[in-house]
Amino acid sequence: MRGVARDLLILGCRQLLTLRGGWPRRGRALGELGLIRDGALLIRHGRIAAVGPRRNVERLPAARRAHRLDLGGKIVLPGFVDAHTHLLFAASRAEEYEQRIAGASYEEIARRGGGILRSVRTLRAAPEAVLLERARGWLAEFAAHGTTTIEAKSGYGLTTAAELRTLRLYRQLQHEQPVEIVPTFLGAHVVPPEFRGRADAYITFLIQRVLPRVAAEQLAEFCDVFCDRGAFTVAQARRLLAAARATGLRPRLHAEQLARTGAARLAVELEAASADHLEKINAADLRALARSSVCCTLLPGCSFHLSLREYAPARRLIEAGAIVALATDFNPGTSPTVSMPMVLALACTQMRMTPAEAIVAATLNGAYALRRAERIGSLEVGKFADLAVFDLEDYREIPYYFGVNRCVATFKRGELIASRRT
Ligand code: NIG
Ligand code: FE
Repeated sequence: MRGVARDLLILGCRQLLTLRGGWPRRGRALGELGLIRDGALLIRHGRIAAVGPRRNVERLPAARRAHRLDLGGKIVLPGFVDAHTHLLFAASRAEEYEQRIAGASYEEIARRGGGILRSVRTLRAAPEAVLLERARGWLAEFAAHGTTTIEAKSGYGLTTAAELRTLRLYRQLQHEQPVEIVPTFLGAHVVPPEFRGRADAYITFLIQRVLPRVAAEQLAEFCDVFCDRGAFTVAQARRLLAAARATGLRPRLHAEQLARTGAARLAVELEAASADHLEKINAADLRALARSSVCCTLLPGCSFHLSLREYAPARRLIEAGAIVALATDFNPGTSPTVSMPMVLALACTQMRMTPAEAIVAATLNGAYALRRAERIGSLEVGKFADLAVFDLEDYREIPYYFGVNRCVATFKRGELIASRRT
């Protein structure tokens, strides 16, 4: 048993980005960082007990008794909440990367049996120990880049056993390491070989055979569908997500990435937690999303990695008042990165989000997309002390120094979970 943990007083935050002020953030509020110069935090039992300018926090009686940690002038912000990842996979698809550089498209490779189906073959054949070891390594990398919570999807199994195995491994990983994992059932990623040409029958199978097991073991909080050209139709997605909702799983959708199919409108209709990708939305979709409570989770790593010129219309979404989040979409096919700082760099340079907007989208709005904004995503009294510390002089340098990891410490619920010397 641990003794009574001492409070922790963190000082020396040159810029403390609190993000105070409510959620989800839309429009102008998306860029409000609640920045405190020379800030301090008092942490008790993993939660924020006080936050403010150093002189105010330091003179609290509890602060005088606390263990002191002086960061010596760093940038401190909420840990990143990465609301879209495909954490568990067995192998990279570097050979497809090379084929794409030579001119093949993502969809052509998928039609030839590569793409997601390739990852399905390797995941099914991989021993559990191998999958766990890989995921552990990537989780440590997420933490090293300032991420404290990730959503993680199944979807490379596509049989009852293989989907349940992925979700059970997420549960095991949650128990053994500190990065928070929010599990999503993505049985409807693509049609597996066993159901080739019978997508409707596969959806029925998921509803009758797999969903009840996922629900009975409480293995997922959300149900996602890859609703796009070459994957599932809007009607198929609607049928699965309605059934999922009836078992207690909230819907979310991969929408309008490769072609406009109407998936974003389905997300609005279902009041989905989020609609992700959105590169191909039209003006009416944009208005519908902006009026809704659906989070628009943008994944610029995909366009970058697939060498596509088109990015989601982040500026127009923000200006119309949509709720915008940013995530890595960590996966072996379209976005093999765990780096939220890199995603911020892409959001700023390719989608013209401001550094402040990108930070709020990557933290507080990501937390909203995962239905956790009352606990994480900003640094306010009562919330968990999930922090990323960057060795920089100005928060705008987080996206500015692209491809360089300046995160030097990460805290989850007040515990140091990653750190490195500078
Ligand atoms: O979000 N598009 C569907 N799912 C992933 C890609 C998965 C893969 O290619 O393995 C995505 O881009
Ligand atoms: Fe994805």
